[in-house]
Amino acid sequence: MKIRKVGVVGCGFMGAGIVQVCAQSGYEVVVTDISEQILSKGMVTIEYYLNRGVEKGRISQQDRDLTVSRIKRSLAQEDLNDRDLVIEAVPEDMELKRRVFVGLDEICPTHTILCSNTSCLPITELARATRRPDRVIGTHFLSPVPPSKLLEIVKADTTSDETLATVKEFGRSLRKEILVAKDTPGFIFNYLLLALTGAAVRLLEDGVASAEDIDKSMTLGLGHPIGPLALADFNGLDVGYMVSCAMYERSNDPCLAPSAMMKEMVDAGHLGRKTGQGFYKY
Ligand SMILES: NC(=O)c1ccc[n+]([C@@H]2O[C@H](COP(=O)([O-])OP(=O)(O)OC[C@H]3O[C@@H](n4cnc5c(N)ncnc54)[C@H](O)[C@@H]3O)[C@@H](O)[C@H]2O)c1
Repeated sequence: MKIRKVGVVGCGFMGAGIVQVCAQSGYEVVVTDISEQILSKGMVTIEYYLNRGVEKGRISQQDRDLTVSRIKRSLAQEDLNDRDLVIEAVPEDMELKRRVFVGLDEICPTHTILCSNTSCLPITELARATRRPDRVIGTHFLSPVPPSKLLEIVKADTTSDETLATVKEFGRSLRKEILVAKDTPGFIFNYLLLALTGAAVRLLEDGVASAEDIDKSMTLGLGHPIGPLALADFNGLDVGYMVSCAMYERSNDPCLAPSAMMKEMVDAGHLGRKTGQGFYKY
């Protein structure tokens, strides 16, 4: 099946980026959210990045204007009733996502593929909440979406090969390199990231080395652009702790066990860069 019309549910941090890359790649996009104010803020962000692209000569003024003209905003989920593919990017809450999927299943034509941008929740459970479990799949975009080179596609136990093939082609049309993962906690990217962060925190907790030296072992030793502890500070320790708890609960995998040190820091309000204190002081 050829995808032409795309829908995005949620115009927050990730949703706005997904809308931008889809519209820039020529798709007609309808984006929904719960308030006009949030939709406007999302559009301001998209236009800011497109304008910067024009200034830097990465895109032409005409492409910028065409991209913006392909985006329609709406407060009514019903406006997604003619889409070929819909990507859900609402907050990481299983009940909320399940409600969104049940609603989309009611509204969308039978051929519509429903995708979730979840970081670690089970896609198969979302798929089974619909009457089209073969046409539900994970499309885990990495942040920030426009410059990121990767799209991790998550095949639920119920996803058909045809849906996988269509979504792979769609992802390539967005100029992303495709990874395909099974529906396991954290898929590939977040599993590796959380396992590495957890190991780095354990080394710090056990007094094996300083935060600086642990990070340097990865930046200078493996060429990572940022060390795991500095990255955890950047992403927010509350977010990292919440994701590792959710993934551990689902898997019982010791590599994903949330660390006591991280919990203490979160309880003390040391959440990383955003509070000025995490593994480092800012
Ligand atoms: N932030 C990241 O770095 C990142 C990276 C990869 C994946 N993700 C995943 O992407 C998803 C979205 O994350 P985010 O950071 O963009 O969150 P966000 O809070 O910035 O955006 C979520 C948006 O969904 C909207 N929303 C809530 N309920 C809605 C509904 N019923 N209908 C329509 N819109 C609704 C909210 O108003 C908000 O604008 C999550 O599942 C998250 O785990 C996030």
